[in-house]
Amino acid sequence: MAMRLLALFSALVLLLTLSGSVVRVLSLGVGINYGQIANNLPSPSRVAFLLRSLNISRVKLYDADPNVLSAFSNSNIDFVIGLGNEYLLNMTDPIKAQNWIEQYVQPYLPQTKITCVTVGNEVLSGNDTRLMSYLLPAMQTVNSALVNLGLSKQVYVTTAHSLAILAYSFPPSSGAFREDLAEYIQPLLNFHSQINSPFLINAYPYFAYKDNPDQVPLNYVLFEPNPGTTDPNTNLNYDNMLYAQIDAVYSAIKAMGHTDIQVKISETGWPSKGDPNEVGATPENAGLYNGNLLRRIEEMQGTPAKPSVPVDIYVFALFNEDLKPGPASERNYGLYYPDGTPVYNVGLQGFLPQMDFSAAKINTRNSDLSTLSLLVCFIAFLICA
Ligand SMILES: *[C@@H]1O[C@H](CO)[C@@H](O)[C@H](O)[C@H]1NC(C)=O
Ligand SMILES: *[C@@H]1O[C@H](CO)[C@@H](O)[C@H](O)[C@H]1NC(C)=O
Ligand SMILES: *[C@@H]1O[C@H](CO)[C@@H](O)[C@H](O)[C@H]1NC(C)=O
Repeated sequence: MAMRLLALFSALVLLLTLSGSVVRVLSLGVGINYGQIANNLPSPSRVAFLLRSLNISRVKLYDADPNVLSAFSNSNIDFVIGLGNEYLLNMTDPIKAQNWIEQYVQPYLPQTKITCVTVGNEVLSGNDTRLMSYLLPAMQTVNSALVNLGLSKQVYVTTAHSLAILAYSFPPSSGAFREDLAEYIQPLLNFHSQINSPFLINAYPYFAYKDNPDQVPLNYVLFEPNPGTTDPNTNLNYDNMLYAQIDAVYSAIKAMGHTDIQVKISETGWPSKGDPNEVGATPENAGLYNGNLLRRIEEMQGTPAKPSVPVDIYVFALFNEDLKPGPASERNYGLYYPDGTPVYNVGLQGFLPQMDFSAAKINTRNSDLSTLSLLVCFIAFLICA
């Protein structure tokens, strides 16, 4: 019995590997945010299978969930893991920072490829000034712990910001940080430059559209054909808002004396559903936004101001997350429903197995049946593709 299961399983893996040539899978440099504020998500080992079938090789977590980090052992997926804002104060203590790295990072290396720790999320756009003052010390202390443990070459330290840290974002060449944040941002930029780590922003053109649907052209935010807008200072034409936002951040960084820091998008996305007052939150728009963005990433496009630097993006998010608070849109950013069916078509074809492949679960009675049904589904999937 066990042998037969094993044989079936190997056959599946083989089929799946071969299917790479049958199914059109975008080979993507894109990353994806794997948020888990939900009570109905598939197990991490099934998610690993789904991501492998999508050929997605970069994942960002908001925490350092040991279940995920062990399930992705030997998966060849690059992980960004997160230290939540509630850890910032403790992380200014070298002993606690080192303990954290020893507990949540070191044991998983190198089988799970953890490449980055984000320390805090959107701290500077919040209103907790104590938290703001802990941010850089916490990042420095976590980095020193990585240096002490000999891990700083493989794991870098950064944090993620909301675009609300900008006072000006248009035209992109006039991008500037809020003046009241300069006391935090200047030393933060110096640190990024010193350790050569990227500056991350969470950027949602959707918000700009939702707040102002009469002024903001939908095609401009969805990467659809449109005349775009020209920056009067540089004469560069922008055919989409996201690239304008990225270049605005480059300008803001340059205005503070740095041209040596790369800007990456730690989150961007579009909700497929929202409350009645959330204009534009539809599956059609979400499919256009994410699908068009994936095509541009596949072409390795840069922004108008940095044409030779391909935009580097983590899409938000892998799954709809039913327990997220706030307006309905918050629970509907996923590319997938928790059962593994796509919310809309973005040209990705993924596959979520019906059963858990972790060894412990294989010898239950039902798994024989589910393996068979999986095989049937899988063959159907191949035929349909
Ligand atoms: C998966 O992505 C890698 C690089 O990211 C690429 O070399 C490979 O061809 C892709 N495979 C498929 C089936 O698209
Ligand atoms: C911070 O450290 C204190 C003392 O060690 C501990 O009790 C607390 O749980 C820690 N906070 C977090 C968020 O881990
Ligand atoms: C700012 O603080 C107030 C009161 O403490 C809180 O209600 C509000 O949600 C906070 N705003 C943000 C953006 O954190």
